[in-house]
Amino acid sequence: MGNKNFVTIEGIDGAGKTTIIDELKKIFLKDDKYFLKNKEVIFTREPGNSGNEFLLKTRDLIVNYDILPITELFLLQANRAEHIQKFIIPNLKNNKIVICDRFTDSTFVYQGLKGVKDQDIIITSKLATLDVNPKRTYLIDLDPKIARKRIIKNKRTTNKFDNYDLNFHQQIRKRYLQLAKKENKRFLIIDGNKKVNEIVEIIIKDLK
Ligand code: TMP
Repeated sequence: MGNKNFVTIEGIDGAGKTTIIDELKKIFLKDDKYFLKNKEVIFTREPGNSGNEFLLKTRDLIVNYDILPITELFLLQANRAEHIQKFIIPNLKNNKIVICDRFTDSTFVYQGLKGVKDQDIIITSKLATLDVNPKRTYLIDLDPKIARKRIIKNKRTTNKFDNYDLNFHQQIRKRYLQLAKKENKRFLIIDGNKKVNEIVEIIIKDLK
């Protein structure tokens, strides 16, 4: 059972998550904070949340170094433990809504594809998250070919994951869709071809 105030957004690299989150921030902004129906909304992301040096340093190690998949798993879960236990859980306890860009689904999809066993991901995720999970997950689904064009067009700085070949990203998309099918109550699949404002509208309507 997920925490009803905890929401995550998932999708392949270049699917548009950041643009969508930036748009949500604009809509929710009030007096330097974010609100949805009088409830404060906290935006965060994994791996790494700006403002926390440990999270940013471990993010750099994860996304820029050529390391074993199992090393990625340990670093991701260390990053996650600090993030969820010191930041996400306290905010949820203060009755805030937490919207997180990527969470454990990313680990099942990415490190799973790289050969880490599901069982190892399940055990380490439980240790890191204390079993605190999102009630709702928005999967922004997009063809990796289109996602790649967007990354190039937006001139976004790329990391090692962006540079994996098309086949890797196609497999990632497939795994996301399989996961969403398996957990269809938690996931809402949104077509990433839709306009940003349409996607944002779907998310806000669903959040309410
Ligand atoms: P981002 O660019 O969306 O912030 O994510 C950085 C990369 O980290 C992204 O390509 C996917 C990868 N990643 C994993 O491999 N496993 C995980 O558990 C998470 C959270 C991210």
